[in-house]
Amino acid sequence: MATVRFLNTDDGPVEVDVPAGTTLLQAAQRAHAPEGSACGGVCACSTCHVYVRKGASLLSESEDEEQDILDKAFAVEFCSRLGCQAKVERDGLIEIELTRESVETYYNEHPQERHAREARLKAKA
Ligand code: FES
Repeated sequence: MATVRFLNTDDGPVEVDVPAGTTLLQAAQRAHAPEGSACGGVCACSTCHVYVRKGASLLSESEDEEQDILDKAFAVEFCSRLGCQAKVERDGLIEIELTRESVETYYNEHPQERHAREARLKAKA
């Protein structure tokens, strides 16, 4: 099992243990981390764009198709991956930072959660 930790949710870091073969997007869904997936995980949108801050070597290699889609994403970094394409291959700790684009897409896709989030943030202010 690998541990996938999502560093920047509203509730701070959240993590989940997943077996080999799990994508980062599937891990985010299991951890209730807000990662967007506008195309449904078929490598066609870039809204699942994340930064792999630790454990990149534990993931599958990036294929040309993924790189082509990442070329269209915002604020791409050397450690950028598409969550729907990067699969866990080895045990260890993987740390993920969700991109702003991905989080915004997630809340646009889940309006009820967006409203609850806005209410939470308003209450904190
Ligand atoms: S969910 Fe669309 S490219 Fe990953």
